[in-house]
Formats: sequence, C-alpha cells, structure tokens
Amino acid sequence: MNALSVRARTTAAEETRALASVIGATATAGDLILLVGEMGTGKTAFAQGFGAGLGVTEQITSPTFTIVHEYVGRLALHHLDVYRLEHLQEVADLGTAEMLDEPAVMLVEWGDVILPALPADYLEVRLAFGTADDDRLVALTASGSRWSARMRMIGELTAPWREQPDVTPC
Ligand SMILES: Nc1ncnc2c1ncn2[C@@H]1O[C@H](COP(=O)(O)OP(=O)(O)O)[C@@H](O)[C@H]1O
Ligand SMILES: [Mg+2]
Repeated sequence: MNALSVRARTTAAEETRALASVIGATATAGDLILLVGEMGTGKTAFAQGFGAGLGVTEQITSPTFTIVHEYVGRLALHHLDVYRLEHLQEVADLGTAEMLDEPAVMLVEWGDVILPALPADYLEVRLAFGTADDDRLVALTASGSRWSARMRMIGELTAPWREQPDVTPC
C-alpha cells in the first residue's frame, strides 16, 4: 500500500459518514478536502459525517444549487459543490482563497474539476461504486506535505473500514 494513500470500503451510507467523522474530528484550520466521484457515490454523505466529526450540529445538505454552504462547528466549515461552475474564474469570484485564510475547513464536491484554482495541499477523497448497491470504495490520497504527514494517523483511524482483498472461494 502506498503510504500516501489509504483505501477503505463501506457498505452503507452510515459507514461512510462514520469514516468521514473520524477524519473531521482531527481537522485543523486551513484544511482542504476534495471530494471526487460520480453522482450518488456519497460525496455529500461524506461531508455530513465529516461535519459531525467537526462538531457541526446543523443538518448538512447538498450545496449543488447554491455552490457554497457555511456551517459552524469546532471550526467553520465551508462546503462547496462546484458541479455547476462553468469557468475557473467563478471559483475566484466565490472567494475560496479568503475562505482558506479563515480558521475554517473547506470541503469541495467535484473538487478535481477546479484543481488549478486551488492550493496544492489537500486530501483527495475519491468515492466509487462497489459491487453491491450500497458498497462504496473510498480512496484517501494526500497531496502536499500537510496531508502526507497525517496519512499514517488517517490510516489508523480508518482501519475499521480497511478494504479487504477479495477472497476467492476454492
Ligand atoms: N456506502 C455508502 N456510502 C455513501 N452513500 C451511500 C452508501 N450506500 C448507499 N448510499 C446512498 O448513496 C447516496 C449518496 O448520495 P450523495 O451523498 O448525495 O452522493 P453525491 O454527493 O456523491 O452525489 C445516498 O442516497 C446514500 O444513502
Ligand atoms: Mg453531493
């Protein structure tokens, strides 16, 4: 396993929320997390769990139509969904640089789409459909030193959901 990457598997939305929650509990000001994966893979579910771990009590909903939602927990949480943005310039207009300067955490659904407009230090959370309806593969990958230094801890925290190699029946 690549030390900068951790792979997990969940079998229910509640598990994805629980996994995200342990990461949210460790978040620090200025953290940037990109949520990547097809529609319905659980990006918003991850954001809900992450927010719960960060101490957000308000219900976290999809910001698809509003692009940015802000919540308050132990730190502020900016939750973005940039699916509907058509130009990178719109990201600057949203004030993402200012948001990252605040004592806050930023989660961006479809974050890979706006990579050139974001700092290079982030945790990528890539969600994918698994075999069964409610199976999801969750790949956590560090980009930059900020997250690389934390991957061992993230690996330990997410051990309950570690992806097990398929066992071939004989
Ligand atoms: N293991 C799982 N992890 C996350 N969501 C799951 C899982 N299994 C089923 N689901 C369901 O998949 C849907 C994910 O939706 P959502 O989080 O809005 O996805 P996205 O934001 O990626 O479009 C929800 O209806 C959720 O209940
Ligand atoms: Mg969503």
